[in-house]
Amino acid sequence: MSDKISVLVVDDDLETRELYIRWLTGAGYLPTCTAHGREALDLFANVFFPLVLLDINMPGISGIEVLRELRGGDCSPAVIMVTGMDDPEIAASALEIGACGYLIKPFEKNELLIYLAHALRIKELEKKNREHQDSLAQQVKDRTLQLEKALRDLKASQEQLIHQEKLATIGHLAAGVAHEINNPTGYIGSNLGTLTKYLGRINEFISLLEDYSPALPPEKREELKQARKQAKIDFLLSDSRDILAECLEGVERIRKIVAGLKSFSRKDQNVSTLASINDCIENALTVAWNEVKYKATVEKEYGDLPQINCYPNQLSQVFMNLLVNAAHAITEQGTIRIRTWLENNRIVVAISDTGCGISAENQEKIFAPFFTTKKEGVGTGLGLSIVSEIVARHGGDISLRSEVGKGSTFTITIPVEQGPEQIKMS
Ligand SMILES: Nc1ncnc2c1ncn2[C@@H]1O[C@H](COP(=O)(O)OP(=O)(O)O)[C@@H](O)[C@H]1O
Ligand SMILES: [Mg+2]
Repeated sequence: MSDKISVLVVDDDLETRELYIRWLTGAGYLPTCTAHGREALDLFANVFFPLVLLDINMPGISGIEVLRELRGGDCSPAVIMVTGMDDPEIAASALEIGACGYLIKPFEKNELLIYLAHALRIKELEKKNREHQDSLAQQVKDRTLQLEKALRDLKASQEQLIHQEKLATIGHLAAGVAHEINNPTGYIGSNLGTLTKYLGRINEFISLLEDYSPALPPEKREELKQARKQAKIDFLLSDSRDILAECLEGVERIRKIVAGLKSFSRKDQNVSTLASINDCIENALTVAWNEVKYKATVEKEYGDLPQINCYPNQLSQVFMNLLVNAAHAITEQGTIRIRTWLENNRIVVAISDTGCGISAENQEKIFAPFFTTKKEGVGTGLGLSIVSEIVARHGGDISLRSEVGKGSTFTITIPVEQGPEQIKMS
């Protein structure tokens, strides 16, 4: 391919065309000639000419019209207008439309060559300017995207900070409250147990008296019977048993809440060790089995995972909370699927259920402490806030995908390599 610069010559005068061909070829250009504006446009539609020498007065479509069309295209050439009439108005409008030069016949060969070189130079500058503008626009776009992302990250970390702050405050309170409640709950529970035993013994004693009553004279037997009836002893005995059972159940509930609150206190389990996440899940499943077995078939797909430095007991608690929640979400019978895999040097655990799902509105609230949709006594609303606290402590994150009526998937990722700041207890 020739590296000569092609020039499209558009002029209705044969002699002029021949003159141009001589001059241009001599100066190392590659001229192509045409006598009509329309033909020039057709030619240009197929081949790009960086330079166009364009006569203004031609039969058919005028040079100015051709110029307008050429400049309107996507890649416009450098156009030099040529005319036999010195008309400043036409010259001005040609330059306005975008001509690079305006030559008045007759002119010298050198004059033409200088014009051509000048037009090429203008073209070059135009191109550079366009490139510069494009790159500037791209830079502005990139920078805007960066800023938008930074703003989003900032908002997210601000929300995370508020959440962490809330949890830290609760952790602090919880440690104190759990300690304060633990003692009285302990002796209330133990006293209730003792009372239940006492009641059993009183019951046995009354039965014994009943056994001896036939030995009494009939009127005394009748008197005793009436007294027993009047004092509603049978009702008192059975109701006392119910009351005590209810109180013991209440104490059990308090114990559960206290245990939940204690998990917020960072004083527990502050030794990190190398452990396998798959093992943590298995432990959790063993503990949660009673809740899970009647509700769901459990499908397990454990990936090959490296051991990581972590708090295995806490992670077991995370998985247990998620498994129990999954079981609670299933009303009749469903499936709980546990999958683990390694991705980008992070361990990923996904726990899915075919349960009731979580509405968009509730999805925003479920990680908040004490948020529960469960009946009193079933939920404490602490499960997921404990989960997010422990996951954050391991430098990980948790996400949720859920559809009402179809089920939910909680996905946890934990980095294999954790910085000392993540795994260290404060
Ligand atoms: N897998 C799940 N499917 C449906 N709802 C869920 C699921 N996990 C959690 N939830 C919702 O999130 C709430 C908060 O859960 P959690 O913090 O564990 O507290 P709790 O289980 O004591 O209610 C639950 O009451 C329930 O509404
Ligand atoms: Mg729960």
